[in-house]
Amino acid sequence: MAARKSAAILISGRGSNMRALVEAAEAAGFPARIALVVSNNPVAAGLDYAQAKGITTAVIPSKGRSREDFDAELHATLKAHNIELVCLAGFMRILTEGFVQNWAGRMINIHPSLLPAFKGVHVHEQVVASGVRFTGCTAHFVTPGMDEGPIIVQAVVPVPIGATADEVAALVLEQEHRIYPQALRWLAEGRLTVEGQVVRVQEAAVPQGAMISPTV
Ligand code: GRF
Repeated sequence: MAARKSAAILISGRGSNMRALVEAAEAAGFPARIALVVSNNPVAAGLDYAQAKGITTAVIPSKGRSREDFDAELHATLKAHNIELVCLAGFMRILTEGFVQNWAGRMINIHPSLLPAFKGVHVHEQVVASGVRFTGCTAHFVTPGMDEGPIIVQAVVPVPIGATADEVAALVLEQEHRIYPQALRWLAEGRLTVEGQVVRVQEAAVPQGAMISPTV
């Protein structure tokens, strides 16, 4: 087997996607190892989990700092740990264009909507208010435009009529935990090629058919 790629996960809070990545990477044959977890928030709950797993953690406080200053320290930290791939997982900080360019093609994010719909924050509130029948989640490459990078994989989740934003969030989160490790696996295996906005996944099956909601 080829050497496993060293990956870092960037978090700001709960870290459930980080946990899904860590658990996936524990499986024999997974092509990446989680070498580092970085948080910009010193009290992010996800840090405790990472430490309990014996993963190296780093806190780089972002409060009151310029983006350039923060990103320079982040970049240096990733380099010091020989990181090859970066996964943003609930990382609530906008990165500078320079940082993003440095990690182009090597940095991915998980977003809790079917991009390009519902970018930004308060996604599930917007979904519920809009009346859409389907939502979902997207794993994508990170580019300078927020939530705009080439899409690697998406999962579709029907929105139960009358569901609250929190209920929708929980349904979507379950699927985030499935697709994000998948995206990291493909990236680490070198199976992704990007042409403009379109990502090709070597040897991935293409699902057929359609879903309709509601049904009777
Ligand atoms: C997830 O919904 C993710 O899609 C979004 O922020 C949330 C982070 O949750 N970017 P967690 O910290 O991974 O539990």
